[in-house]
Amino acid sequence: MYSEKVMDHFNNPRNVGEIENPSGVGTVGNAKCGDIMRIYLDIDNQGVIQDAKFKTFGCGAAVATSSMATELVKGKTVQEALSVTNKAVMEALDGLPPVKVHCSLLAEEAIHAALWDYAKKHHIGIAGLEEPVADIGQREE
Ligand code: FES
Repeated sequence: MYSEKVMDHFNNPRNVGEIENPSGVGTVGNAKCGDIMRIYLDIDNQGVIQDAKFKTFGCGAAVATSSMATELVKGKTVQEALSVTNKAVMEALDGLPPVKVHCSLLAEEAIHAALWDYAKKHHIGIAGLEEPVADIGQREE
């Protein structure tokens, strides 16, 4: 049912934890399944993501997608990080079962929420970034 990559990122998740004084932090949840994901970003003065960490209270696919999403945004500029969509995360994981696609949306939205927090703190705009919703369950309807 799950690809080897999903199982690998679930069993050995990368970037678990917190960043002290993060440049941006975003928390999103899905009220339908009750899962919650928080992503921390450390962004340097050039707007490059130096580090990313996550804490996920959620299903195995949510853990795997947070792990992959944090891997994918590291080294990217805040603008480039917008290319880390749920589709990009799923592709990097060699796919997810259809009932688990919404878990990857949580990862995309948590990154957006962390970028939004960063942009707000620095009084900048990130082109193409929309204000994230705290409960992505609403977005799917
Ligand atoms: Fe809710 Fe996976 S079941 S994020």
